[in-house]
Amino acid sequence: MHLQNLLEHRRSVRLFSGKKSIPPNDIEDCLRQATLAPTSSNMQLWQFIHLVDPKWSADLTKACLGQTAASTAQQWVVFVTRQDLFRSRAKFLLNFEKGNIKRNSPKDRQVKRIAVREVYYGKLMPLLYARFFRLLGIVRKLVVFVMGLFRPVVREVSETQMRTVVHKSCALAAQTFMLAMAEKGYDTCPMEGFDSKSVKKLLKLPRGTDINMIISCGIRDGNKGIWGERCRVPFEEVYERR
Ligand SMILES: Cc1cc2nc3c(=O)[nH]c(=O)nc-3n(C[C@H](O)[C@H](O)[C@H](O)COP(=O)(O)O)c2cc1C
Repeated sequence: MHLQNLLEHRRSVRLFSGKKSIPPNDIEDCLRQATLAPTSSNMQLWQFIHLVDPKWSADLTKACLGQTAASTAQQWVVFVTRQDLFRSRAKFLLNFEKGNIKRNSPKDRQVKRIAVREVYYGKLMPLLYARFFRLLGIVRKLVVFVMGLFRPVVREVSETQMRTVVHKSCALAAQTFMLAMAEKGYDTCPMEGFDSKSVKKLLKLPRGTDINMIISCGIRDGNKGIWGERCRVPFEEVYERR
């Protein structure tokens, strides 16, 4: 499918066919494709929990407020933000970057480039993503306020704003996943209508994690699961050329 066809084909499907099923490996493949989504500082603070066993259905549907998109799905993917893993991800990326520079940079530039990455992933990322009862965010805000008096700075550094940063990247992975599924002829419904406390408890998610979206997966039964015509506000309302 061309991208235009794919985008038109993808709909939020709220009722899936009970007749056709999706091999779990196909969903896994789509999740591998989702990892190719762009992510802030390449931190990849996400986790995709792929629920295959039908035993999850009842509890998950209850936590999803009884939505048919959840109850009629065959499998579900819970997109989880893993801000709690910021240290290990930064370490992983620093190691990768060092190797990358050694493999691909001119010899005379390597030391300087590695030093820059050491500051970025070794110091800056751990400072930015750390959380402690909002206090670290306040300190970061003060620092950027002062820096901002002299030069342009990224100002979204409070703990809440860093949480948003992590959610943004995770949502891009979720959208990439839904398009990958559509390309295989499978359907999805992204959901944020769920009780996050119940889902976290059900999946035994650690502290410091959030659920970004739950995406139910299945195959549409004709148009039954598509609730009406697609609606978008007029393009002119959202597009501005300057
Ligand atoms: C973050 C997010 C959360 C959503 N939550 C729900 C949900 O809980 N239940 C539902 O039926 N649809 C949910 N949707 C689907 C939207 O209602 C749907 O994308 C929108 O109506 C446009 O329809 P389309 O996806 O078919 O183009 C959600 C979509 C997004 C992006």
